[in-house]
Amino acid sequence: MKNNPLPRLDTNQEMRDELLPFCRLKPGDIWVDPKERHRIACIDATDYEAVQQLMRGDLAHLAIQDPPYNLVAFEERHIHEFIEWCERWVRHSSLVLAPDSSFYVWLGADQNNAFQPLPDFMIMMRKFNEFASRSFITMRNQRGYGTQHNWMAVRQELLYYIKGNPCFQVQYTEIPKILRGYYKEINGRTTENMERGKSENIRAGNVWVDVQQVFYRMEENVSGCYAQKPLKSIERIVLASSGRDDIVVDFFAHSGATLLACERLSRRCYTADIDPVYCEITIRRLERYRQFGRTGWQNGHPFEDEFDGALNHAASTRYAESTALTSQTTLF
Ligand SMILES: C[S@@+](CC[C@H](N)C(=O)[O-])C[C@H]1O[C@@H](n2cnc3c(N)ncnc32)[C@H](O)[C@@H]1O
Repeated sequence: MKNNPLPRLDTNQEMRDELLPFCRLKPGDIWVDPKERHRIACIDATDYEAVQQLMRGDLAHLAIQDPPYNLVAFEERHIHEFIEWCERWVRHSSLVLAPDSSFYVWLGADQNNAFQPLPDFMIMMRKFNEFASRSFITMRNQRGYGTQHNWMAVRQELLYYIKGNPCFQVQYTEIPKILRGYYKEINGRTTENMERGKSENIRAGNVWVDVQQVFYRMEENVSGCYAQKPLKSIERIVLASSGRDDIVVDFFAHSGATLLACERLSRRCYTADIDPVYCEITIRRLERYRQFGRTGWQNGHPFEDEFDGALNHAASTRYAESTALTSQTTLF
């Protein structure tokens, strides 16, 4: 396995200066997939004109949004400012969603700071009468921010809202059913849940404990990204809440996880990121998947061609040494 990771690219200006010349999109640009399936825009999600240019009048059936969470790893904004900012892109999501559609938002809840931004975000969502709440999902991360003085924070929250009456396809986990005991009388005979269920496996409820957090040994790992969601979690959402060829939007592309899930499941993805570096990574991830069937770079990185696989840049070397091959940042 290669040991050639990139540091976090949003904060490492030295590295960004080296990579930006290789980024195809500059602010305002939109990349249209030569196969005409997907679009990637280098835009600000709170700029509605730019969002309209991305959509060109098309409506989406599903939105999967994963904004920066106002946690320590981001430049912290005052909570009210952050919620006002969220309200803007939520409104834009609503405007591009079809009358029957689903809206998912990944969020954090900082246990050391009044569980923000989750509660204020939920309250803000009440302004949107078109969205009805449907589920409050928690995904368990393998790693978290640990402490000996509190419960280790391993939660990742996912809110699910609907507009109108969208499709919903039940999804199963890989966890086998093991518990007996939910008895019910059917045609005069007492049956229990193991024989009544349609599947050998349990259904994905609103607590997901079967999704591996992305780390450097996984093929899907995209080094340089600091908040990559596991493909399995995105694919679960896409399968549950969209159909073949439906349009899925994601205004915060980052590693391009939503776009890749859509490619693998024959959906169309219109995605965006304000940062040209993450737009480029998203394009390259799609291209790599199409060319080699690979979902990521494991412990290599998306700019290996330009840097000849041996990115000897001082900053990257320092990073590789300091992390001693641990995972990506896992606050999210
Ligand atoms: C939490 S990450 C998304 C992670 C993504 N779901 C994944 O699995 O890779 C948030 C992303 O939003 C981008 N971003 C921040 N502010 C933005 C804005 N106003 N408009 C569009 N993208 C923005 C950041 O550059 C970052 O890549």
